Amino acid sequence: MSKLIIEGARRLKGEINIQGSKNSILPILAASLVAGDECVIHNCPRISDVDITLKILEHLGSKVNFEKNTVIVNSENIIKNNIPNLLMRKMRSSIIFLGALISAVGSAEISLPGGCELGPRPIDMHIEGLRQLGLRVDEGYGALRCSNEGGLEGCNITLSFPSVGATENLIIASVKAHGTTVISNIAKEPEIMDLVAFLNSCGAKIECRGEGTLVIEGVQKLHGAEYTIIPDRIAAVTYMSAAAVTVGDLLLKNVIKEHIGAVIPVFEEAGCTVQTNSKNSLRITAPTRPYFNRMIRTMPYPGFPTDAQAPVMAMSCLADGTSVFVENIFTNRYKHVGELLRLGADIKVEGRVAIVEGVKRLFGAEVTAMDLRGAAALVVAGLGAEGITKISGLSHIDRGYENLENNLGLVGASIKRV
Ligand code: EPZ
Repeated sequence: MSKLIIEGARRLKGEINIQGSKNSILPILAASLVAGDECVIHNCPRISDVDITLKILEHLGSKVNFEKNTVIVNSENIIKNNIPNLLMRKMRSSIIFLGALISAVGSAEISLPGGCELGPRPIDMHIEGLRQLGLRVDEGYGALRCSNEGGLEGCNITLSFPSVGATENLIIASVKAHGTTVISNIAKEPEIMDLVAFLNSCGAKIECRGEGTLVIEGVQKLHGAEYTIIPDRIAAVTYMSAAAVTVGDLLLKNVIKEHIGAVIPVFEEAGCTVQTNSKNSLRITAPTRPYFNRMIRTMPYPGFPTDAQAPVMAMSCLADGTSVFVENIFTNRYKHVGELLRLGADIKVEGRVAIVEGVKRLFGAEVTAMDLRGAAALVVAGLGAEGITKISGLSHIDRGYENLENNLGLVGASIKRV
C-alpha cells in the first residue's frame, strides 16, 4: 500500500494550476447521458472518481475517450439502465445517475449508495422530489427500481434543505419532463450553476429565478455540446492552507474568487495577504505564524464550505489562537481530528463542535487518511510539521486531487509517494 512521505517545515513558493472541479465534472458526466449525442468536456481533472464515473458510462453503453484533461463521451446508444452494486459502492455520488437514467431511458435500477466516511448520506430528498415528478420508485433489498413509462410531469418542488445532490438529480430528471418544473430552495453551489450551463448548452431550458429558484421548461430532446467546467474551489483552499502553514508564497492560477468568498477573509484575518485579479489568479503570502482566533461554521453556499473545514482546521492547528469549528452539514466529518492529534495538535471534539488550540509546533508521525478532505488536512499538517510524516490511505486523495504531490513538490515541498 503506497504512502506519502513528507519532510515538513519547508517554505512553499511558486505557482500552481488549479484543477477542474471534481464536484462539477461528476454531475456533468452523468448529465451527458441525457444529451444522447457526443459531448466534449474540457478541464476534466484526472482523478479516480472520474475514472469510476467513466466506467459507469461505458457500462451503460456510452463511448468514452479521456485524453489529457478532455473527455469525449457519446451516449447515443444506451443499452442498460442499471448500475452494478460494485460500481455504485465505489463512489457514493453515483446516485447522480438516477436522474440522468430517468431522463435518458425512462427507468433505472441502482443499488442504494449506502453510507460513506461522512455519515449515512441519506437520499430521501432525491426520492421525494422524483416521486413528485411522477417517478415510480420501489425500494427494497438495498436497491432502487424506478420507472416512469409515460414520462415525468413537471411540478413545483421545494427542497427542505438545499441539498447539492438532490438539486442536481432533480434538475437532470426534469429537463425532459412534460411541462414546467419549478425547484425552490435549491443548493446554490457554483457546481450547480456549472451543471445548469452545461445542460442549457445541450438544449435544455433552465432559468434561474431570483434567489434559490430554478424554472425548467421540459424539452423533447437534447443534443451534444462542447463545454469547459469551472476550477475546483476546494483544491484552491487546500493549497491556500498549505501556504499558510509554511510561511509560503503561492500563486494559484484558475481560481474564481467569488467561489471562495466566505474563505478568503478567514485567511486574511489569519494574517495572510490574499491578492486576486481579473485573470482568475490568486496570490497568497503567509505570515511567520498565522493568527487564528475565530468561529468557523460550515453552511450551504455561499457560506463557509464544509469541504474546506478539514484543510482549514489543519492550518489552525499551527496558528496562534483558539478556533471553534461547527460542522453543520455532515454528522461525522471530524475523522481527521484523531490523526491530527498524532501530529501533536490540540483539538477537542464534542458532537458537531471542534475546539482547536493552536500549538507552536507539530511533529511528523505515521497517520492514516479516512476520507477525501481529511486526507488533504493531513497533507497540510504534514507540510507544517517538523520531521517526517507518513500518510497512508492515499486512495482517498486520488479520488479528488489531481497531481497533489507533484504540484506541491514543484513549489518546494519534500513529498514523495512510495
Ligand atoms: C455534495 O455532496 C458534494 N459531493 C460534497 O463534496 C459536499 O461536501 C456536499 O455536496 C455539500 O456541499 C459532490 O458534489 C460529488 P448534500 P452531497 O446532498 O450532494 C443530507 C467532497 O469532499 N442529505 O448537499 O451528498 C446529507 O446527509 C464531497 O468533495 C439528506 O439528509 O451533499 C448531508 O448531511 C464530500 N437527505 C447534507 O444533507 C438527502 O436526500 C448535505 O448533503 C440528501 C442530503
